[in-house]
Amino acid sequence: MDRETVEPNVETLPDERAKEWAEYHHEFAAPSTYVYEFVWDTSADAVGPFCTDVDGNVLMDFTSHVAAAPLGYNNPTLRRKLEEFDLVDPLKIAGQDFYVSAGGSPSDPDLPGPSQLMERLVDATDHYDMDRVFLSNSGAEAVENAIKVCYANGGRRGFTTDGAFHGRTLGALSLNRSKTVHRKGFPEVPGIVSVPYPSTQEEYETRWSTDGPGGNVVADKLHPKQGVIDPEEVAYIILEPIQGEGGYRPAHPEFARDLEQLRHEYDLHVIADEIQAGVGRTGEMWGVDHLDLTPDVITAAKGMRVGATISRSDVFPEEKGRLSSTWGAGDVIASMQGALTLDIIQEQNLLENARTRGEQLRSRLDEGVEDRPELVDARGRGLMQAVEFDTKERREAVVEAAFERGLLLLGCGHKTLRLLPPLDVTEREIDLALELLFEAIDATDGSQ
Ligand SMILES: Cc1ncc(COP(=O)(O)O)c(C=O)c1O
Repeated sequence: MDRETVEPNVETLPDERAKEWAEYHHEFAAPSTYVYEFVWDTSADAVGPFCTDVDGNVLMDFTSHVAAAPLGYNNPTLRRKLEEFDLVDPLKIAGQDFYVSAGGSPSDPDLPGPSQLMERLVDATDHYDMDRVFLSNSGAEAVENAIKVCYANGGRRGFTTDGAFHGRTLGALSLNRSKTVHRKGFPEVPGIVSVPYPSTQEEYETRWSTDGPGGNVVADKLHPKQGVIDPEEVAYIILEPIQGEGGYRPAHPEFARDLEQLRHEYDLHVIADEIQAGVGRTGEMWGVDHLDLTPDVITAAKGMRVGATISRSDVFPEEKGRLSSTWGAGDVIASMQGALTLDIIQEQNLLENARTRGEQLRSRLDEGVEDRPELVDARGRGLMQAVEFDTKERREAVVEAAFERGLLLLGCGHKTLRLLPPLDVTEREIDLALELLFEAIDATDGSQ
């Protein structure tokens, strides 16, 4: 498959083999978020955003496995680098939270394992004075550990934001405010207070700012004389710099400045959940880098191939055994992929690519919005872009119509469609994908 020339090529989707696989899979799999009958053929040709399904259809994946494959399929540099190392079996070994896995010397390691990944993450968060990392398996675990380290510093309450998504373990899901399905009927961590997340100027003025004593919703609640929450009781405020599941909504810059002020005034710990927006997706390493807000804890996962809770030594509890897991501290193969992914982002200047290609993507989406009354808005940063529809039904129909044409997309929010191509996406690939997207939109009447 030649990345320079390959194009989506679809006969029937899903075809016989895909249907057969889906049926087999669902005989055993618990119901979850299954979106379409796309069955990726893991042994067939794939490169960049292009992949092949089990019936030989060639598709373009503008979901990047929900941001978990930031370099797309079969990145040649990543593959070459992975092949350079003489890896022993078993590669995915448990128990590394109880000892260190390494080879060679720290200054000249045989392979970049968990220790090197943590060093790279500390380097990437140096501007926030972060110097310690706890690795885990998933985004939810990274969040779980982030709130734990904040609780360990005192306080039994936490602020989350309307529209938030932070994962599905019981602690993380207690922070979710994007869809009722995530939380309904499940027990939750007590003491979580949800506050508005203004994205637009109007939301900043009408939902966040107040005429109260503090001037905004959180400052009013914490106000020493007229407030209703003792700031001493607040362990953290957690937010996504751009809400993902909640609809690709960037935080309003003034909202972030207000939070920074509150952080100083009340010594609040700010957790930036970078699981979707981080690791270069927005054109900066972290989504919070776009804002005047200093995080005390950063959570990363997805493209890192492990969960990472990153913070300062004074935030992590010192006592042994407060954080741990059989699979904690990162398994070797996943950590190596994470470390090499960070190297490639730097070596290939992919932050710059995310900015340039993000502008291309966004300006085409803006044009699309201008030309089509059924499109309400385009928004996002870098290669984390979305377009909002007039109705949820139309959004669902467009996801399906795009799939049938060989373009994989995902919804987010109530009626929004997200586009998150690989960080090394090319101009041609964005043009191809948008052609398919607009074709899909124009073929859909929204009544489905
Ligand atoms: C912002 C954010 N936080 C947390 C999570 C949870 O990550 P995981 O699915 O790896 O548990 C996600 C997943 O989509 C996310 O987007």
